[in-house]
Amino acid sequence: MNSSLATPARPQQGQAASALRTPMDISIRGLTKYFVGQPLYDNFDLDIPAAKIVSVFGPNGCGKSTLINMMAGLIPYDAGTILFGGRGLGEIKIGYVFQNYREALFPWLRTVDNIAYPLKLEGRSKADVAHRIEALVASFDVKFDLHRYPYELSGGQQQTASIMRALAPEPDVLFLDEPFSALDFEMTLFIREKLQEVFMATGTTMMLVSHDLEEAVYLADLILLLTKRPTRIAEILPFDEARPRTIATLSEAAFIHTKARSMEIFQREVRR
Ligand SMILES: Nc1ncnc2c1ncn2[C@@H]1O[C@H](COP(=O)(O)OP(=O)(O)OP(=O)(O)O)[C@@H](O)[C@H]1O
Ligand SMILES: [Mg+2]
Repeated sequence: MNSSLATPARPQQGQAASALRTPMDISIRGLTKYFVGQPLYDNFDLDIPAAKIVSVFGPNGCGKSTLINMMAGLIPYDAGTILFGGRGLGEIKIGYVFQNYREALFPWLRTVDNIAYPLKLEGRSKADVAHRIEALVASFDVKFDLHRYPYELSGGQQQTASIMRALAPEPDVLFLDEPFSALDFEMTLFIREKLQEVFMATGTTMMLVSHDLEEAVYLADLILLLTKRPTRIAEILPFDEARPRTIATLSEAAFIHTKARSMEIFQREVRR
């Protein structure tokens, strides 16, 4: 495991004094969201313990993207509260990885400047930005030229850069909406492993929307299974296999059982 991402603990001289990361639980109460007069979420509650990877899985159109978008402050909701360690969104740092990496990076900025962008917004010094990018490059084992523009990179390289940008400011929570769905298998495996390494090094809470059940279970501490709309929690299944999980995990009894149980619940909800 590469622990070079675990830099926030002791700010060095010349570095912005980033706050110590305190693992945050997430508490959602009474969340209500209507679209064109129809409820999507109606008085929805959810509790997520600190420092977990949560996979969000559910029927098409049940509101997976809307849920993480409301949590990330990308779209408004009609009522309810969403708190991170008791704090509002304005008091924490989040990262967001979009499904469509082609539209996620700024085309007019070189890839390295895309990754540095949130750090510059925070007003970090040049030295601090360079130090942080160096750590990310080492951690993601980057082999491509970050001085190229995004359109000069492959899809997998662009999504890697998007994830590096989301992680650059050391977010308390990272949201990912189907981050692998447009990637080939090799790239999916690579980025999946990188996310697991980041999680092991930093304990960053991740909310991962996935339509691939195997992947959802493989990465997760908790699998959040949603119903059709108006959306409720069908079940939250724990998967507490030790990390790092590997190819061998896929044939372990606990994995197979959790995947089968998730599938049962999913099918029950789709048929309902
Ligand atoms: N801006 C909008 N206006 C009206 N309805 C919307 C809007 N955005 C989403 N919806 C509806 O809300 C529901 C949830 O959408 P959302 O995209 O969150 O679902 P999802 O679970 O992410 O779907 P998918 O599996 O297709 O990614 C869908 O029925 C969708 O049609
Ligand atoms: Mg979606």
